[in-house]
Amino acid sequence: MVGFALQALSALLLTLSVAASPVRVKKRADPVPSFVLANAPLAHLYSKEQWWPSDISVHVQHVVPEVNFASVAPSVTLQNISSLGSDVFLTSKDDVTDQPDWITSVVGKPDADGLSSAPVTIVLVNKPGGILDAFFFYFYSYDHGGKVLGIEFGDHVGDWEHTMVRFTNGAPTAFYLSAHSGGSAYTFAATEKTNGRPTAYIGVGTHANYASSGQHCHDLPGDLLCDQTDAGPIWDPALNYRAFWFDNSTQTFTVAGGGGAAANVISSEGASWLSFQGKWGDEQYDFLEHGQYCLELGSLEECRFSSGPTGPIAKNLGRAAVCQKEDGCTIATSL
Ligand SMILES: *[C@@H]1O[C@H](CO)[C@@H](O)[C@H](O)[C@H]1NC(C)=O
Ligand SMILES: *[C@@H]1O[C@H](CO)[C@@H](O)[C@H](O)[C@H]1NC(C)=O
Repeated sequence: MVGFALQALSALLLTLSVAASPVRVKKRADPVPSFVLANAPLAHLYSKEQWWPSDISVHVQHVVPEVNFASVAPSVTLQNISSLGSDVFLTSKDDVTDQPDWITSVVGKPDADGLSSAPVTIVLVNKPGGILDAFFFYFYSYDHGGKVLGIEFGDHVGDWEHTMVRFTNGAPTAFYLSAHSGGSAYTFAATEKTNGRPTAYIGVGTHANYASSGQHCHDLPGDLLCDQTDAGPIWDPALNYRAFWFDNSTQTFTVAGGGGAAANVISSEGASWLSFQGKWGDEQYDFLEHGQYCLELGSLEECRFSSGPTGPIAKNLGRAAVCQKEDGCTIATSL
C-alpha cells in the first residue's frame, strides 16, 4: 500500500514538474477586482470626432501581415497573430486614402450611457508593495494626425492609446494618460471626477489622452501643433471590455474575463494576441506612395503617413514608475 501510494505520488509530482516549472497547480485566473471597475476612467471623445473607437477583432479582418511591403500570410486572426514576428506590419487591404468604411465607421461611437461596441482592453499587473496597475487600452483603426500651418502630418493605420490607474492595497493612488510619445501623470486625488471616477479627454483624430478639457499643444513651439478636446461622448470601459492579467516575471498574459458583449468572445479569442510584437498598421509609405510627403520641421522629420504602432506589450507594462517613460516621471498634484 505504502509503496503504491509513494509510486502514485512520485508519478504525480513528475507530471506536475513536466507540465510547469516551478511546480504550480494551474487555476482559473481571477476576475477583474470590483475596485478596478469602480474606478475605471470615463473618457470624453471629441464631439466632432471622425475616427471612432474600433474593435480589434474587426480590424484584423481588414489587414494582411506584411514585411517590407510584401505579404507573409493571406490573413490573420486574433488566435494566430502571435505566431508573427516583430517585423510584421498589419497592413490595410484597402488604400487608406479612400478612407474605407471600417476606418470611418461610427459603430464604435459610444451611446448616451457610455457604451461603445468597441471593447476596451484592460490589462492588470500585480507589482511589489501591494500595487496593482490597471491599464485601459483604447484602440482605433485610424489615427488622423494634426495639421501644421494647414499641412496634414502623422496619419497612420491602427492606434493604441492608454490610461492607467495605479492602486495600492486596493485604493486608487495615481492616474497616467498616454499622449503621443509621452504622457502625463497625476495623483488620483488631483484628477477631475465624473461620478467619482477619473475623467480623461481624448484629442480629436490623434486620440491622445489628457486630464483636462480644451486645447493641448505638443512637440512643436507655441501653438503650431495642437490637440483639441471637449466634453463629447463619454466612453465607459466598464460596459464592454476584454480583461487580462499580465505576469511581469514571465511576461505572459492570461484571460481575466470580459464585460458586456466582449464577455461572449474572450474565451475563444484567448490571450495570445497580446504577445504579438509587430505593428497594428501599415509601414510608413515611401515618398509619393498613397500621396506620401515628408518635411523637416525643426529637428524633426514629419511625414503625412507614419508607421502603425506596437500593441500593449510594448507599453512598459512592468513599469515601476507611473509613467511609460520612467525617467523624469513627475506626478502632478493638481491639474
Ligand atoms: C490565421 O488563420 C487563418 C484562418 O484559419 C489563415 O487563413 C491564416 O493564414 C492564418 N494566418 C497566420 C499568420 O497563421
Ligand atoms: C518587470 O520585469 C522587468 C523585466 O524583467 C523588470 O526590469 C522590472 O523591474 C519588473 N517590474 C517590476 C515592477 O517588478
